[in-house]
Amino acid sequence: MFESKSGILLLAGLGFFLLAFVSNAVVPILMFRDLPEQSVEELVDPTVNKNVMAELRDLQQRYPESFAQYVGEATEENCAELLERGRDIYVGEGCWHCHSQFVRPVSNESKRWGPVAEPIEYQNELQRPVMFGTRRVGPDLSREGGRRGSDWHVAHFWDPQLTSPGSIMPAYKWFLDEPESGPPTPNAKGLAIVLYVQWLGSWLEFPISPYYENVEGVLGKAAAR
Ligand code: HEC
Repeated sequence: MFESKSGILLLAGLGFFLLAFVSNAVVPILMFRDLPEQSVEELVDPTVNKNVMAELRDLQQRYPESFAQYVGEATEENCAELLERGRDIYVGEGCWHCHSQFVRPVSNESKRWGPVAEPIEYQNELQRPVMFGTRRVGPDLSREGGRRGSDWHVAHFWDPQLTSPGSIMPAYKWFLDEPESGPPTPNAKGLAIVLYVQWLGSWLEFPISPYYENVEGVLGKAAAR
């Protein structure tokens, strides 16, 4: 085998594959196996992260009729359910084809998007499977929460060109209902996806939104458990 060039190349190929498997799979599993996995109920608990419930109440205030029709009360239980539905829509609509959820420690990404992603941020039910994404046609979304108002997202889903001239993101008109008078309002899908997008990164301390009061940050609390 070692006499021929192709034999050596084959062996080197297998060796590199094994090295990648050990460094990218085995080592992370061993390093992070003791990290607690958070349930969705824990994620929306205001003693852990006040921002998600704040975003939910914000949606209720902005769209009282749609909210009453599709969600009901602004309870933690409904919040958890809506987030799960939002995640399912994110998966189903293929948002991950164009958006990543991973701020890498290279290329000054933290200057553009905020703190580099930490393993603990993926230790929860909403990240099963993890939404790292496949490529970046649009921007990374892992710090999107609080960056825009929910009405911005609603207008953007209706027609991305309205808020972002020249955008190639497709319109998601089926996230909204068209009322007889007045602008379209988010329906069950719209409310869920907007809440999901507002959840992304809301667990962090950095003051992206003035009404975020998450003083200690969720990461520290989850790690302390
Ligand atoms: C074909 C690629 C593509 C798909 C699919 C796509 N997007 Fe986008 N998205 C973009 C591009 C490009 C931008 C940047 C221009 C803009 O703001 O529209 C963007 C921007 C965004 C922004 C604004 C980010 C910011 O703060 O500037 C959000 C939020 C967003 N997309 C969410 C979604 C969600 C949720 C889905 C799935 C329902 C989705 N996108 C599907 C390409 C895509």
